Amino acid sequence: MKKIIIACLFFVLPASVFASGGANLMHADNDLHDKASLQNGAKLFVNYCLSCHSAKYMRFNRMGRDLGMTDEQVKENLMFTTDKIANTMDIAMKPEDAERWFGTPPPDLSVIARARGTDWLYTYFMSFYEDKSRPFGVNNALFKDVGMPHVLMKLQGRQALVKDEDGTDKLELVETGTMDEEEFSNAMRDLVNFLEYLGEPIKTTRQAMGYKVILFLLVLLVLAYMLKKEYWKDIH
Ligand code: HEC
Repeated sequence: MKKIIIACLFFVLPASVFASGGANLMHADNDLHDKASLQNGAKLFVNYCLSCHSAKYMRFNRMGRDLGMTDEQVKENLMFTTDKIANTMDIAMKPEDAERWFGTPPPDLSVIARARGTDWLYTYFMSFYEDKSRPFGVNNALFKDVGMPHVLMKLQGRQALVKDEDGTDKLELVETGTMDEEEFSNAMRDLVNFLEYLGEPIKTTRQAMGYKVILFLLVLLVLAYMLKKEYWKDIH
């Protein structure tokens, strides 16, 4: 019996517990209901990521609708190529070229938030630091020897890996970028928020529906119980 319970626990435990790999992750604390945050995340994504990474399961017009924007607003603010509004968020870079340039082709980011979890992504974006031994001059404290350059360095500034008083590694800002620390961490929260939305666009609808279904079942439970009492009244 004990073995069965342990086996059940193993399967029931969310995958994210294992995906975190035990690293000390920061908390994303993003809010999928915050439309302004999602719009800002989308802006960061199309400006800084969509050149290398695609999101090929998402169409521009669907994204606009979900984020409370008209097609015109999407065209003006989030589309820079000759893409049509109903196109998916694809890129022109060929995987073979990408492999030659970066060592690993940049993965499609449609469902990355489901694979890695939001805390992992947030920590990853906050953890780039200078490392002259790497091809792009940067490394990542969470993703060792990562093939991706620090594309947000202009915003964040430069971080260095230094030792704490007790000898543990920590990251320290050695040169500020165009954003201060708080602005940058808020921007990363928005970016992660957008990536979580991308991973499951109907999540908020699904959750709202879930509450309604549970409420309905509760009402049904009361009715069924009253009905049962009525039927059994004469038998007892
Ligand atoms: C210049 C090209 C380039 C740009 C621009 C870029 N990336 Fe990357 N990214 C890469 C490459 C290459 C990898 C693969 C790294 C590896 O596996 O070593 C990667 C990896 C990643 C990963 C890790 C994927 C995994 O293995 O789980 C995430 C998450 C990610 N990028 C997000 C972003 C986001 C968000 C942006 C925009 C802020 C962005 N990237 C911009 C090239 C890029």
